[in-house]
Amino acid sequence: MFQKNISLKPYNTFGIEAYAESFVSVTSIDLLQNIVAKHKHLFILSGGSNVLITKNIRQPVLHLNIQGKDIQKNKEENIVFVKAMAGENWHEFVLWTLENNFGGLENLSLIPGNVGTSPMQNIGAYGVEIKDVFYKLEALEIESGKLKTFYNNDCNFGYRESVFKNILKGKYIIISVTFQLTKNKHKLNTSYGAIQTELKKKNIKNPSIKDISNAIIAIRESKLPNPKKIGNSGSFFKNPVVSIDQFKDLEKEYPNMPYYKVSDKAIKIPAGWLVEQCGFKGKRFGDAGVHRDQALVLVNYGNATGNEILNLAKNILQTVSNQFKIDLEIEVNII
Ligand code: EPU
Repeated sequence: MFQKNISLKPYNTFGIEAYAESFVSVTSIDLLQNIVAKHKHLFILSGGSNVLITKNIRQPVLHLNIQGKDIQKNKEENIVFVKAMAGENWHEFVLWTLENNFGGLENLSLIPGNVGTSPMQNIGAYGVEIKDVFYKLEALEIESGKLKTFYNNDCNFGYRESVFKNILKGKYIIISVTFQLTKNKHKLNTSYGAIQTELKKKNIKNPSIKDISNAIIAIRESKLPNPKKIGNSGSFFKNPVVSIDQFKDLEKEYPNMPYYKVSDKAIKIPAGWLVEQCGFKGKRFGDAGVHRDQALVLVNYGNATGNEILNLAKNILQTVSNQFKIDLEIEVNII
């Protein structure tokens, strides 16, 4: 059932060449339970959109490829529960919800990766995070082989965070996710200036959820590289949060610095701006580089190794720390 020496290049959006000593693609829960009963130290690979692989993988690699989606029956007037299996491609799933005129996921259009990993880092974009529409997920506990349900409160969602990245890391395999969407009277989120600019450009005054999705797709395509064309893993760093005192000092020196207020005591600064200020935007070192339109995104121009990307990231971390006294945090999982 396991295959030997499989290249992982097609399985990670960074397009890094690395090998799995043994590899299995799993398409059913039964098979998953079967394998988990025999192997406790698996490396779980899903859409491969949030990993940087820096070495060949010796543990057995389990590619989670369980497909399926369905609309769950319920009596509520304006709510629909939609369930998708972990291996469903995220963006195709979002488009399918929109075709059914279900609202809630439109702002999360075109995010790379699969449904199963979306709750892990509470994916978010343009004013919406998965926690806003998440109902529950089903996960397999590796130790016991049993299935467990996690509701929204059980997941401890935060900014690009969940319980599955922290105390439960490596303990569960997410099998399916159920979202709570709207059937009509959709709550649109057009708070991001870029969305409004895009809608205005097309002269759309009363946008539908599909219009918003199209606007998001246009914005993302204009500044985020398509992983099918150039390897990348989206934002490589998280946006750092600084204290109000540190923010005031920085603002004196950099009056044009963009920022978002998180609370009375905390300010979030766009990491992309910090990286750009340090002169990295558009820079290329061999086949590893910093994207020319969004400095938060590191790219593989073809044959970069995971370590070349990681060294570039370390160089950026050090330079930002020296110049701004801010320690950026890497968002991508380094393997
Ligand atoms: N900026 C720069 N230079 C750059 C990039 C950004 O000065 O090279 C400035 C922009 O001018 C703007 C601010 O930084 O004032 C914010 O930029 P942007 O709207 O592009 O968003 P971001 O904070 O860089 C975050 C998410 C993205 C998400 C967008 C939109 C994180 C780590 N990243 O990026 O998520 O799509 O907001 O909501 O929170 C991802 O997680 O992979 C991802 C792409």
